[in-house]
Amino acid sequence: MSARIPLQPFPTGWFQVASSEELSTGGPLPLRCFGQDLVLFRTQEGEARVLDAHCPHMGAHLGVGGRVEQGGIRCPFHGWVISGQGVCVRIPYADTIPPKARIRCWEVRELDGVILVHHALGGEPPAFEIPPLPEARSTEWSPGMSKRWRIRTHVQETLENIVDPAHFVVVHSMPAPPRTEVEFEGHIIRSRSAVKQKGPGGQVVDGTITWEGHGMGYGTIRFTGIVELLFVNTVTPIDDELIDVRVAFWLRNDGALRLAQALAAEVCRQIEEDIPIWENKIYRPQPVLCAGEKGIMTFRKWSSQFL
Ligand code: FES
Ligand SMILES: [Fe+2]
Repeated sequence: MSARIPLQPFPTGWFQVASSEELSTGGPLPLRCFGQDLVLFRTQEGEARVLDAHCPHMGAHLGVGGRVEQGGIRCPFHGWVISGQGVCVRIPYADTIPPKARIRCWEVRELDGVILVHHALGGEPPAFEIPPLPEARSTEWSPGMSKRWRIRTHVQETLENIVDPAHFVVVHSMPAPPRTEVEFEGHIIRSRSAVKQKGPGGQVVDGTITWEGHGMGYGTIRFTGIVELLFVNTVTPIDDELIDVRVAFWLRNDGALRLAQALAAEVCRQIEEDIPIWENKIYRPQPVLCAGEKGIMTFRKWSSQFL
């Protein structure tokens, strides 16, 4: 990747490592992200925890054959128990626990069905938090489908798509390019696009797409127009070649459910249209831009704070 996309692959911020649904068994689940092996599990108190994957004893992977039990996770190799804080709390055949018997415990947040881990290159603590979704606390909205893709690109490249008006016409067959305003404030970026959408009868309807990104890993995208729709869009670096892109939709209970589901399917179809472009393009640090494309450089200025 470094030759094709010379950007630091592992930005600072909150990144989704799983959905609450994927952890419904309590784990442990092996994770691969930021070029590292991690383990995710739910403690018996119900808290999602992420630790470095390899046991401090002789290096077994705690997410492959480990078991969640009272006090933490039991290593599949010699039965040491590592707490949710990453500290060895029990060795079945020894009374004294060596003080070095500990591994890294990552900052985790679980929010509206999304499990996030904080990553910082220098290991710094989180400088911001992800706000809860108002819609997830409203009786008017319900969770819809979710989907994940593993893609050979950089997280910045997929986000840049949102503020790239011209490609919507060429790649996604939108009737006209959106008019997009982009602004940022600290770690938050907001873009608002006025779009022309094709209605179910082929008529063209005015709508808006509003993106709010909290760091590079987590964002919400809201649609108005033909139908109201919301999705959480997360991007997670797996290693220096691959990322995960996830979408999790929220649908209005009183809205036109069929239309909302059709729009959600259309969003997924559009992501799939972008994939071959993302996987084969190079990153131009100084792109040659035209009128209406100013948002791309605003976006890059914002994203550079995390790299
Ligand atoms: S490697 Fe985990 S207990 Fe020995
Ligand atoms: Fe796109």
